[in-house]
Parts: sequence; C-alpha cells; structure tokens
Amino acid sequence: SAEELENRVREVKARLGNRLFIPGHHYQKDEVIQFADATGDSLVLAQLSAENRDAEFIAFCGVHFMAETADILTTSEQKVYLPDMRAGCSMADMADIYQTERAWEVLMDTFGDTILPLTYVNSTAAIKAFVGEHGGATVTSSNAEKMVAWAFEQKERILFLPDQHLGRNTAYNLGVPLEEMAVWNPQENRLEYEGAIENVKVILWKGHCSVHENFTVANVENVRKQHPEMKIIVHPECSREVVALSDMAGSTNYIIEAINQAESGSSWAIGTEQNLVNRIIQQHPDKHIVSLNPYMCSCLTMNRIDLPHLAWSLESIEKGESRNIIKVDEEVAVKAKLALDRMLQK
Ligand code: 13P
Ligand code: SF4
Repeated sequence: SAEELENRVREVKARLGNRLFIPGHHYQKDEVIQFADATGDSLVLAQLSAENRDAEFIAFCGVHFMAETADILTTSEQKVYLPDMRAGCSMADMADIYQTERAWEVLMDTFGDTILPLTYVNSTAAIKAFVGEHGGATVTSSNAEKMVAWAFEQKERILFLPDQHLGRNTAYNLGVPLEEMAVWNPQENRLEYEGAIENVKVILWKGHCSVHENFTVANVENVRKQHPEMKIIVHPECSREVVALSDMAGSTNYIIEAINQAESGSSWAIGTEQNLVNRIIQQHPDKHIVSLNPYMCSCLTMNRIDLPHLAWSLESIEKGESRNIIKVDEEVAVKAKLALDRMLQK
C-alpha cells in the first residue's frame, strides 16, 4: 500500500540522515515530491548539486539529463542515482552527438568560425561536452536571455540545441527578428531557410518538448473566448505562436512565483506540465486556475519516478548496491562542466 511504501521511504531517510539528498523537479508527482529535500527548476537543481558537498548519495527525482548534470557538478565521492533508469527526456534525445558533429561541419563550411553553440540543459552530457569544447555554455529557461545575450557578445551567430522553441522565444525577446532565424534539420542534415544565408543570426536545432507542444493556438483562443478575464501563463518550451498570444511566459519557478504573487480571486490558465499545474491548483484555493489544455499534459518520463521506484531505490542505496547509478564518462564530464560552469558563473 501507499502507506507502507511511504513508511519505507521515511525509514531509509531517517537512517541515512544528511548522507542522503533528494532533489525533486517541479514536474514530479506529489507522492514523490513530498519526500524531496529541495524542489526547484532545472537551474536551482543544478546550483544545489554544485553546492552540496555533504551528501554521499543523491537520489535524483527528475529525468536522466538532470541526474547527469548533478553527477558532473558533484565530487567523485558523491554518487548520483536515478530511481528509474527509464526516466529520460524525449527532447534531450532529439539531439545526438553524431548528428551534432555532422551539423557543425556543414555550419563551419557555410558560416566559418562565427558561431557559438549553446545548449539547453535538457540535453545529453555528450552534447554539453561538445558545447563546452567549442567555447559555449548551457542555458536553462530561467537564464536563457542572459546567456543568449552573452553568446552574442562572443560571436556573430548562435547554434541553439536542442529546443527550437526556447531558442526562438529567447532570441525574439532579445530583438532578433524571426527572418534571421533558421532551423537545422538533423534528419536531413541541412538548414531550413529561405532567405540569404548571411542574414542568419540564430540556428535553431529542430527539437521540441512533446509535453509543451500539446499547448496550441486553439487552446489559447478557447480560453480567450470562454474566460476573457483569464490570464494565460506558459513555459517558453511552447511554440512562438502560443507564447506570443499568452500574457506571460517563463520557467517553472517563474510560473510558480507569478501565481504566488497573483491577487486572490484572479483567474489563470497555465501552459506547463500537469503535475505542476495540479499542485499549483491545490495550493491556491483562492484563485481560479486551469490547465491551458483541458486534456492532461503530463510528462510520461517524469512520471516514471513514482513512490514504488523511490522506495526500492532508497533501500538499494542503503544496502550499498550499485544499481541505477548515473556516472558520466570522465572525459565527457570535464568538457561538459566547462559549459555548465560558464552558465553557473554568470
Ligand atoms: P525548468 O524547470 O527549467 O522550467 O524546465 C522545464 C522542463 O521541461 C524540465 O524538463
Ligand atoms: Fe523533457 Fe519535456 Fe518532459 Fe521536460 S517536460 S523532461 S523537456 S519531455
């Protein structure tokens, strides 16, 4: 039963004390998040991993790339575990390192040494290493504008991996017109662009989040028609069209803060992952809050971390078993850390 599983988690936590640290991303289920020692967006969780030097065991409640980031930023004595190895991220999987190296060759031939690569943290350690090696940095949805502005101080152009929407929304906010953005198609290994090539300032990798692509212009129009008083707030992994028609856009922490500060009685439609939207609804009974898409949009891979996996994983950690350890290859980790440090030092 759930009660029995909760007790098992509580017992291991009590026995391991400070030796165990459980970070939880905002998209995790309530049954998991209740046991998190810290919750946050990707940036906060990366910062906490970099600062934590006490915990020997980090049971990461999030997805694979987050656990990899935690491993890269912690010491070799600290071990990072992912309670279910199937908790990946379909967006991170949309850019593999071979495609990226292949793309880079073509881009160098086309544009010469004028491009700085940036990668959303939602990417594999190998992609972060590629970016680190080429002088670039990671970004999160909380600091994307700052990092893209920084990149334009170094080079004339940027390559933004792997989320075209965060890349497009961020560059647009910084004043880059849509006509100066091209899409890199990794399947066909070519640039999708109609105009004169020298006008390209931003090259967007053709990746997306399969959760946030479910928020559509039609959803926005329905809310505007049915609830004209409602404010619409979305995550920048939503398309440019959806973000443009919304009132506000920002990271998960930004969305949480905006609703915390909203007036009692105000109405909101939120365009982000459903576990988080449900939690915000529960925490604000004085406000009228709905999902921008009335059909559930939860992240199936985030949901792979559930109470049974957490209980099993913590017990396995306590027994000293080496299951579900996330260990990034040393050579990759060193280069990926360059990209992460350039972000964390900003
Ligand atoms: P943030 O927590 O940075 O807003 O990212 C959202 C996300 O999709 C994580 O997978
Ligand atoms: Fe990946 Fe999207 Fe799930 Fe985040 S919400 S883990 S970007 S698939």
